[in-house]
Amino acid sequence: MDSFYSIHGLKRLEGTVTISGAKNAAVAIIPAAILAGEPCVLENLPNIADVESLRDILRGLGAGVDMTEGGCMRIDPSTINTHDATSNEVSSMRASYYLLGAMLGAYGEIELALPGGCVIGPRPIDQHIKGMRALGAKIYTDESRNVIRAQATKLKGAEIFFDVVSVGATINVMLAAARAEGTTVLQNVAKEPHVVDVANFLNMMGASVRGAGTDVIRIQGRKKLHGCSYSIIPDQIETGTYMIAAAATRGDVVIKNVIPTHMEAISAKLMESGARVIEGDDGRDFYLRVTMNDRPRAVSFRTMVYPGFPTDLQQPMMAYLTTAGGTSVITENIFEKRFNHVKELRKLGASISISKRVARVKGVEALRGADICASDLRAGAALIVAGLMAGGETRVHNIGYIDRGYEYLDSKFRAIGADILRVDEEE
Ligand code: EPZ
Repeated sequence: MDSFYSIHGLKRLEGTVTISGAKNAAVAIIPAAILAGEPCVLENLPNIADVESLRDILRGLGAGVDMTEGGCMRIDPSTINTHDATSNEVSSMRASYYLLGAMLGAYGEIELALPGGCVIGPRPIDQHIKGMRALGAKIYTDESRNVIRAQATKLKGAEIFFDVVSVGATINVMLAAARAEGTTVLQNVAKEPHVVDVANFLNMMGASVRGAGTDVIRIQGRKKLHGCSYSIIPDQIETGTYMIAAAATRGDVVIKNVIPTHMEAISAKLMESGARVIEGDDGRDFYLRVTMNDRPRAVSFRTMVYPGFPTDLQQPMMAYLTTAGGTSVITENIFEKRFNHVKELRKLGASISISKRVARVKGVEALRGADICASDLRAGAALIVAGLMAGGETRVHNIGYIDRGYEYLDSKFRAIGADILRVDEEE
């Protein structure tokens, strides 16, 4: 089945859209539930392919996992009966690396297929391994099978200074340290909202994690954690995608169920380009209202770790700037090959040149529809934004990538006035 999105662009987006639970928090919190040893109930999970994959992976380990309508998942890890996580499902998803910290913390052992995920440049996990080794784990890589084996008779707290700021390594080592003996101090850590969300979840299970959201995290290890109920935060990147789409279509969109402080870098850039971004509270939810009436002005930015401009929104933001007045200079500091969307944007008429990590986007008058292919999740989001801006029909192919991270993308966009249809074609 080749499915694609058919978009007839140039429709002004207007109305209200509600943001789902955060993918990158969910994909860490689901494996983290293993540490509880007892049932946990997770709420506000997004209905996306990555969450389904993790459900299947946990079931493959023997855990009881039930999903109900409305983004609820009950995980009972007490029936886990294997430490072998080497299936194809594990190797095809990046976030399966969180099984390393969760299983080491809970059982002192795991055999794990090396992670896959979006192709956006080299994605080593040396910092994850360095952290686990510092806690006392022995780790062997079996390159012939693309598998790592980790084992620890007892994890012991340690001081760890990460060489690079890594979301994955920060969370992974935090998971293992939550059940280690003694105190762990993590320095030079990531401060992304989902790092804080995972720390809050660990604390709800009885862990002692302090400092998440700052540069230093202190974890007092606990012998045992317990089950709990926990609701995932709203998705920062989905929020940013709708904010950008609203501005890109010169629209007027209220984006509900958001945490405005998570969005400051994006709000600032959109306002610099001429959009209005207003924060509000309707008594139930925080919301952001994005309004744009004119052609955007070119703006330049660099992707940075939080609270800087997130790499995950670099691609949609670039799509937006393709028709801005002037030249925008975009520097991708986090992943060196995150420009795969550029050749597709060019097919729509965008004028973009690339030199190493820097893209120069010379604003054109208009984009025109074409057949284009997503190469990774956020490239897919960028192509959707571009399709909404383009005259005529744009067909976005390879939408399996988009399914991994955006809940009900087409119906959410349709509800605010987009002409977008998902077409499922028989092969
Ligand atoms: C997470 O990836 C997200 N994925 C990514 O989102 C996101 O782009 C990225 O963080 C940055 O915010 C998940 O949460 C599942 P990193 P992760 O470790 O953890 C280098 C999306 O579209 N590095 O913070 O893999 C690395 O090469 C996805 O939702 C090492 O050198 O990213 C990169 O240059 C894509 N050694 C930088 O650090 C390591 O051991 C940041 O990577 C780990 C990372």
